Amino acid sequence: MERTLSIVKPDGVRKNIVGEVIGRFEKSGLKVVALKMASLTRKEAEGFYAVHCKRPFFGSLTEFMSSGPVVLMAIEGAGAIKKVRDIMGATDPKNAAPGTIRKDFADSIESNVVHGSDAPETAAFEIGYFFNALEIRC
Ligand code: CMP
Repeated sequence: MERTLSIVKPDGVRKNIVGEVIGRFEKSGLKVVALKMASLTRKEAEGFYAVHCKRPFFGSLTEFMSSGPVVLMAIEGAGAIKKVRDIMGATDPKNAAPGTIRKDFADSIESNVVHGSDAPETAAFEIGYFFNALEIRC
């Protein structure tokens, strides 16, 4: 069993596709083990994406991620990290495969609807950033 952190980003919430995103994860056999809606401050977005702090898109990314409510979830299942990334599609929707969330709904590499952790260490950091042990079902 593996856990990963996924976020329906502000554009996904604005497009009213929260249920669509969660449904795609659930239909693939993955289980939501923690869930909440939150409005990230700029500082919280900066902390979450600290690994990208030297990248040219950091300012714009953190402004976007704090531009409206997001839905945060911890997802569990066999191979959950890769499974979620496969369901999301490539970061840039121009490169996303047909049938993926980003191909179907994303507008750009920044407004790309959904986030998923990229490795076990990142998943552990990202789940712990938003959820404490009491908020995660077993
Ligand atoms: P995400 O999976 O949330 O991880 C980091 C995010 O940075 C990524 O999705 C994109 O939304 C964003 N990102 C990555 N590369 C670029 C880029 N070249 N320009 C703008 N945003 C980017």
